Amino acid sequence: MSDDSRPSPSGARTAVVIPAAGRGVRLGPGAPKALRALNGTPMLIHAVRAMAASRAVSLVVVVAPPDGAAEVKALLDTHALPGDNPSGSWGKTDFLVVPGGDSRQESVKYGLDALPPGIDIVLVHDAARPLVPVDTVDAVIEAVRDGAPAVVPALPLADTVKEVEPSAVPGAPETVVATPARARLRAVQTPQGFDRDTLVRAHETVTDDVTDDAGMVEQLGLQVVVVPGHEEAFKVTRPLDLVLAEAVLARRRLNDGF
Ligand code: CTP
Ligand code: MG
Repeated sequence: MSDDSRPSPSGARTAVVIPAAGRGVRLGPGAPKALRALNGTPMLIHAVRAMAASRAVSLVVVVAPPDGAAEVKALLDTHALPGDNPSGSWGKTDFLVVPGGDSRQESVKYGLDALPPGIDIVLVHDAARPLVPVDTVDAVIEAVRDGAPAVVPALPLADTVKEVEPSAVPGAPETVVATPARARLRAVQTPQGFDRDTLVRAHETVTDDVTDDAGMVEQLGLQVVVVPGHEEAFKVTRPLDLVLAEAVLARRRLNDGF
């Protein structure tokens, strides 16, 4: 395939919005989470590379911390990205940086507002999931191309989940209300993929607090489908996740050496 294979055979052009504007409170004090280093490279750069690695992706929109857009632009300029090599096998990817908002939902909205005409498929990917493999990205895009308005990668749960009556006092015992059948539950990851018009409509219509974008599409009454996620697409949330992420990178380097 040549670079002219973009736009895709289906004619659909794909962009990724990367919300990266969070503080990372649960990770503890320090720089905004997306700018923290993993093996010396900012988490955001790992995430951007993971998205630009897909041949189907022609644009990556990074939603930066509100006061950090200039810093993020500088980071993108100083790190090698797949799109830097238009004559190579990666194909060409464009990059945009916009400032984010107070909530993830608002940040994603600002990213969507920045999309140019001609983009038909939009992925939303957490900067905090820097290590998602390109095969997972491609599987999500494929499912949207096949006609699903919303696609989420997800994994079965290892832990049994209890629904509780949350206690007002942190650490106080909480009463269990229900135990959903684990076999029917999935832990949802990103990138989540959407028909662009559907996601834009969801963001215009749904005002409830949501923790993922597909939840907004569900509220429109549309079908959301799950495709297999990947254990390396975990979210870096707490300090231990940094240890795991660096271990994954070390394992990849070892494997690449052979
Ligand atoms: N995010 C964002 N804008 C916000 C809040 C979050 O773009 N106002 C992004 C984060 O940068 C992250 C993704 O949404 O890439 C997932 O959010 P989460 O893992 O909760 O990150 P933070 O909100 O930064 O972390 P915490 O909740 O611990 O503060
Ligand atoms: Mg958060």
